[in-house]
Amino acid sequence: MEIRVKNLKRYYSDNLVLDIDNLTMEKGKIIGVIGPNGSGKSTLLNIIAGLDKGYLGTVEYDKKPIDKETYRDMTIVFQKPYLFRRKVYENIEYPLKIRGVDRNIIGERVEKIIERFEIEDLKDNKAHLLSGGESQKVSLARALVFKPKLLLLDEPTSNIDPESIKIMEREIVRFNKETGSTIIIVTHNMEQSRRLCDDIIYLEEGKVGC
Ligand SMILES: Nc1ncnc2c1ncn2[C@@H]1O[C@H](COP(=O)(O)OP(=O)(O)OP(=O)(O)O)[C@@H](O)[C@H]1O
Ligand SMILES: [Mg+2]
Repeated sequence: MEIRVKNLKRYYSDNLVLDIDNLTMEKGKIIGVIGPNGSGKSTLLNIIAGLDKGYLGTVEYDKKPIDKETYRDMTIVFQKPYLFRRKVYENIEYPLKIRGVDRNIIGERVEKIIERFEIEDLKDNKAHLLSGGESQKVSLARALVFKPKLLLLDEPTSNIDPESIKIMEREIVRFNKETGSTIIIVTHNMEQSRRLCDDIIYLEEGKVGC
């Protein structure tokens, strides 16, 4: 999915926290968003996710405004993920269930993603009892399982140990190669953005720098 942002402004009271004239994120790319705390990264991501509507300007998805189909085709993973008080397996199958995917296919897809993320030992655990890092891993698996055309990641590896970061980065890249989906990833880790991203957007005080 291509994302095009025009004349975007987001105010909180009189405070202008995001101010972007023109920004295009190309289809099929992995785009990094970096910048200091409070520079507007999460605000931008939430606007693109369709969760924050209090902005001025336009956001287009493949040259169209957001609609029901857009919501179906995208997902966001928050830094502090929200998982249901159910088993990990049930959390991961949920996006497929609500999209009416065939039961046999759901089983295959969930098993495969659990294997790829190397979280077999967690699959029967209660999701709300997982550690911060385990929750982030499960949330990314849950996001990838339904193959969204747009994947928004807000600091997805901030609590993750080095070995698990490797697994998550491997799966993010693999997902992008296999599906051609667009991925926007907010990160404070410059090395990570260099490893993963085709393009990098630098935000400072709500504006795009170079
Ligand atoms: N609900 C809100 N009400 C008022 N101000 C807000 C609100 N949400 C965010 N802000 C302000 O908007 C600015 C941008 O916040 P945002 O969360 O987008 O930053 P960020 O770049 O994601 O920072 P971080 O790296 O710390 O996650 C900050 O100055 C913040 O205080
Ligand atoms: Mg943030």
